[in-house]
Amino acid sequence: MANRKLAILLSGRGSNFVALYDAIRRGDLDAEICCVVGNVPDAAGIARAQEFGLPAIVLPSKGVERAAYERRLVETLRPYDPALVCLAGFMRILAAEFLREFPGRVLNIHPALLPSFPGLHAQRQALEHGVKVTGCTVHFVDQGVDTGPILLQRAVDVHNGDTEELLSARILSQEHQLYWRAVALALNRMHAP
Ligand code: GRF
Repeated sequence: MANRKLAILLSGRGSNFVALYDAIRRGDLDAEICCVVGNVPDAAGIARAQEFGLPAIVLPSKGVERAAYERRLVETLRPYDPALVCLAGFMRILAAEFLREFPGRVLNIHPALLPSFPGLHAQRQALEHGVKVTGCTVHFVDQGVDTGPILLQRAVDVHNGDTEELLSARILSQEHQLYWRAVALALNRMHAP
């Protein structure tokens, strides 16, 4: 049987993780969440994973040197044998060691139309720049910041008088519809005959 297991990495609220979980439950996404790993002890996303009865693991990253942290992450994920590692609001940059373990198998979702507005506060950057259209992107992770090959994108209009909160909410609802479609695409490509 093809491996369709997803490992989720998150740092906060976890709404993108919940959207993936819901897509699986609805039968829209043929996949299985094998574990949820958080690097922040009180991340709400970890509590949700526990509610769902999924393996939920907290690996605090504060004060841990990057290479050592990535080794621990790899050791934690390896036994679950994920087909894909899905970053869902995971606020750490992953480097060579981690990516070597999962080559071309790490996905991220970003709240802008990359390559515009990479990094933090993408929605604020879009407002400050005055763009009329922004959106969200699911991409493969490489060693840069939000630079890897793009899988799927959705556009979101910027409205007159938008605040960062309003725009972020409008983008987020599109993120929730985009991520599972991108995961399905990545899994299907991986298992194409
Ligand atoms: C999302 O906006 C995502 O694009 C970005 O971090 C945020 C995570 O939100 N990478 P949530 O934790 O999934 O609700």
